[in-house]
Amino acid sequence: MSDGLEGVVAAETVLSEVDGQAGRLIIRGHELDELAGRISFEEVTHLLWDGFFDKLPADLAPAIGAARAAVFAEVSALDTGLLDRTPIEAMRALTARLADGDDLEVALRLLAAPAVFTAAVVRAQAGLAPVAPEPALSHAADILRMLRGTTPSKAEADALDTYLVTVADHGLNASTFTARVVASTHAGLGSAVIAGICALKGPLHGGAPGPIIEMLDGIGAKENARDWIQDALARGDRLMGFGHRVYRVRDPRADALKAAVRKMGTGSNVLPGRLDFAEAVEAAALSILKNHKPNRSLQTNVEFYTALLLESLAFPPSAFTCVFAMGRVAGWVAHAREQVAGGRLIRPASTYVGPMPKAAA
Ligand code: ACO
Repeated sequence: MSDGLEGVVAAETVLSEVDGQAGRLIIRGHELDELAGRISFEEVTHLLWDGFFDKLPADLAPAIGAARAAVFAEVSALDTGLLDRTPIEAMRALTARLADGDDLEVALRLLAAPAVFTAAVVRAQAGLAPVAPEPALSHAADILRMLRGTTPSKAEADALDTYLVTVADHGLNASTFTARVVASTHAGLGSAVIAGICALKGPLHGGAPGPIIEMLDGIGAKENARDWIQDALARGDRLMGFGHRVYRVRDPRADALKAAVRKMGTGSNVLPGRLDFAEAVEAAALSILKNHKPNRSLQTNVEFYTALLLESLAFPPSAFTCVFAMGRVAGWVAHAREQVAGGRLIRPASTYVGPMPKAAA
């Protein structure tokens, strides 16, 4: 048995390849560097979905914009009971109300759902009315507009677009595997996406960036970093934003996102000195982790600079995982379609280690 299924190959995919030794991510034949900051989220969605739907339009942007408008009609189901939940719980509940199915229209609504519902939930929790989507805007620009009520700068929309592209797909990570298991039962794309959201929510997967802000705020100043980190590890805590099941070198997505924060520049919400401070915390963490686990290469993962980027774009930390879902939903849908097209029911075996029944007297 492989603990945590480490190293077990559970699918063949044309979608993405994660090379953990080389620190390389390939999405449908392209290096991450060729995509992040160079093509839009709509285009990377097309890249991922190509071949998995009949009549996929060459330009997906109008269809995604129309899907945002269609999904917005469901925001009225956001009742006060849901507002007591965390943003990801409320967003998941609203997404679960959408009709399930396997066609492109269902897929487009699922793609739009985390974006539209998260913006509405965050605003409602702040006592603000929802802002209807503007279908002609890019997905990234409209997310920020629905969140804040004003059109974002190009630099901000570009930064979010880079983020969504960077996280759109990543091999057989926990949420994508979960989505494929559900898809393998032919339950429908909606069921696969909800399952993906559930797996993403945990702090060992997509729930890490919110706590990273708590860590940075807890450290407060560069000179406190070493003591704070050593105390946390002495308590047995894990440092959020470090370590990965597959990467033994730096996660290539960390640098793509750090570059996106730097590019946003000082004219935006990036707090003055925040990037320098985060880099100092990262350096301290890496040097301490090296001694803490000399036999395990613990490097910066995607979540560390995700936290900085989403903070700079004014998402509340409680909603960071929802923004991850806005990007990863493109990959979940593609993997679910690929699983149904070519895969069997996923049904592994277990080794029974419990007691055996007593022999009949
Ligand atoms: N801080 C401190 N110690 C760590 C960390 C960390 N961030 N990551 C791993 N370790 C330690 C473990 O405690 C373990 O020690 P042990 O052998 O003494 O028990 C050893 O390193 C190996 O860790 P595993 O849990 O076996 O590694 P695994 O591959 O299962 O975990 C994971 C990967 C979950 C990402 C882990 O590194 C972690 O918990 N990181 C912090 C949370 C985080 O950043 N999550 C986001 C991941 S990126 C993503 O999913 C998008």
